[in-house]
Amino acid sequence: MNDTTSNEAAASTAELRVLSGIQPTGRFHWGNYFGAIRQYIELQDTGEAYYFIADLHALTTIRDPSRLRSLVVDAAIDLLALGLDPERATLFVQSDVPEVAELTWLLLTVTPMGLLERCHAYKEKKTRGLPADAGLFTYPVLMAADILAYDATLVPVGEDQVQHVEVCRDLAGAFNHLYGPVFTLPKARVLDASARVPGTDGQKMSKSYENTIEVFEEPGPLKKKIMRITTDSRPVEEPKDPEGDHLFDLYRLLATPEETAAMAERYRGGGFGYGEVKKALLAAAEEFFALARERRAALLADRGRVAEILADGAARARGRAGEVLARARQACGLERERTGG
Ligand code: TRP
Repeated sequence: MNDTTSNEAAASTAELRVLSGIQPTGRFHWGNYFGAIRQYIELQDTGEAYYFIADLHALTTIRDPSRLRSLVVDAAIDLLALGLDPERATLFVQSDVPEVAELTWLLLTVTPMGLLERCHAYKEKKTRGLPADAGLFTYPVLMAADILAYDATLVPVGEDQVQHVEVCRDLAGAFNHLYGPVFTLPKARVLDASARVPGTDGQKMSKSYENTIEVFEEPGPLKKKIMRITTDSRPVEEPKDPEGDHLFDLYRLLATPEETAAMAERYRGGGFGYGEVKKALLAAAEEFFALARERRAALLADRGRVAEILADGAARARGRAGEVLARARQACGLERERTGG
C-alpha cells in the first residue's frame, strides 16, 4: 500500500461496507437497471451493504410533496422487486436518519467554498446563468455525510458522482486532520457502463432523450415501445451484422447466452425481418423481468410490509450513524460532562 492513511488501512482489513444512494426520479428504465441497480444488487452478497433513497437530495429538484412521497415509495418497491434483499442489505430512506443532517453541518464547517465551487452540478448551473440555491451548492457535503455516517468503505456510483466521492474523502481527511481519526475514507467504484443500453431511437437510453423503456412497463405499452424501436431499412433477405445493431444489443441484455448466439446466427444468415427480432425481444424482456414483476405485485398489495422494511432499515442505519455521529461530536468538542443526572 502506498498512499493510504491509517484509516484506510484499517478499512481494508475490515469487512467491505458498501453504500450508495439512489435518487427517486421516477420509474426505473432498462438503462438504470443494467447500468446501476443490477450492480448494487450483486454487491449485497459481497459485504455489508447500505442502500438508501436520497429524498433529501431530491428536494433540490422535486418541489411537489405528494409526488416526492410517492416517488420514494415507488423506488423502494421497485428496488425490492428487482432483488434487493432486506435480509442481506439495509434499505432505508435518507431522511429517516436525521443524524446525517447534523453530520452535514459538522462537515460544512471544514468545507472550503472553493472545493464546492468546482463541483459540476453547481458549476454547470452557474455557467448557464441559472439561479442556484445553497442546497445545490452544498449537495456534495450532504452526500459526504451520507457516506461517512455508515463508515462505508466502497461507494458504487456512476461516473458523474466520482467527483463527489473525492469531495467526501477530502472532507473526511480535513476533519480527521483537525480532530483525529473519526471518519473512514471511502473509495468510489465506478459502475461498469460497458453494458451499452440503447434507447428506442438507438441513442443511449436516457430520460432526457425520451427513449426509455421502463422495467415495469405495462404489457401493452411495452409492446408498443419495442415495436417502435427504430431500425434501418435493409431488405429482409440481406445478411446483417449483429455487432453494433441496437436492437441486437438490447436483445443480448435480456436473452440467455444461447438465445443470443442463435439470434446472431440469424442476423448473419439473413432472410428475416426486424419485426421478428422485436417479437423475440419482447418475449425475452417479459421472461427476464417476470419474477421481479411478481414480487412487485406482491409488494404493491402489501404496502405495510414495505413500510416495515423501510422502518427496519432506518433503525439499523440510525444505529450505525448514531455511533459515527457520537464519535464526531466527541472529537470536535460538542460533548461535555452533564451534571445533576
Ligand atoms: N448524488 C447521487 C446521485 O445523484 C445520489 C447519492 C446521494 C449518493 N447520496 C449518496 C450516491 C451517497 C452515493 C453515496 O446519483
